[in-house]
Amino acid sequence: MKPLTPELRRQLAARVNFYRELGIYDLYRQGGRAETPADVLPVLGLPAAELESIRRDLGECTRCRLHQGRSNLVFGDGNPRADLMFVGEGPGADEDAQGLPFVGRAGQLLNNMISAMGLRREDVYIANVVKCRPPANRTPEKDECDTCSPFLMRQIAAVQPRAIVALGATAARTLLGISDSLGALRNRSYDFTPPAYQGQPIKLFVTYHPAYLLRDPNQKKEAWKDLQQAMKYLGISLPQPMPTR
Ligand code: URA
Repeated sequence: MKPLTPELRRQLAARVNFYRELGIYDLYRQGGRAETPADVLPVLGLPAAELESIRRDLGECTRCRLHQGRSNLVFGDGNPRADLMFVGEGPGADEDAQGLPFVGRAGQLLNNMISAMGLRREDVYIANVVKCRPPANRTPEKDECDTCSPFLMRQIAAVQPRAIVALGATAARTLLGISDSLGALRNRSYDFTPPAYQGQPIKLFVTYHPAYLLRDPNQKKEAWKDLQQAMKYLGISLPQPMPTR
């Protein structure tokens, strides 16, 4: 067993602080005594319990200015053990009123996209980058995304989906930490690992935001291509055409 040198002690403290900043306080040491910083791991419970604990940590959040205009914080919705997770930008008026993601017009379209994939809304998990409605549905500012996204990262780590579909540029940029245009981000997949995540990398696909597709329905066929890539990865076969006879 290695001695606990001042350098190792410093590295372990840095790792524990990193988890604390993410709001994770329950940690365990792999193999009894921590010999490297990587031996200190967060205690992750069952996905549903973990999601509840993340919701508790958010509390009546006032961490950024977006809380000022909110009626309800919109945490997330769906199957805590989903293979597929959708990540949107932030709540709109309907979501703010109901406290649930994607329940307005864009949500109707997202529901249709999910059924076109042969899935039900209850099969997937849906969350947003920011949990409070931006005033007049403006795009959330970078500092607002940075303040809220650690909670999204924890949601992803709790659900451990096999694939994520980022809906629109804000979700894709926040998750990938790059500021390219949506056009440049689409048409490929990414290996995504949230901070402090011990599992296999998650396949991330990028597509248009449903609100954008409502404004430009011509892009729906492009979005369908993106969803088909995710389906292929997940092994979801395309619905067979109805026999004509
Ligand atoms: N747009 C989003 O990005 N998220 C929602 O929950 C609703 C609309």
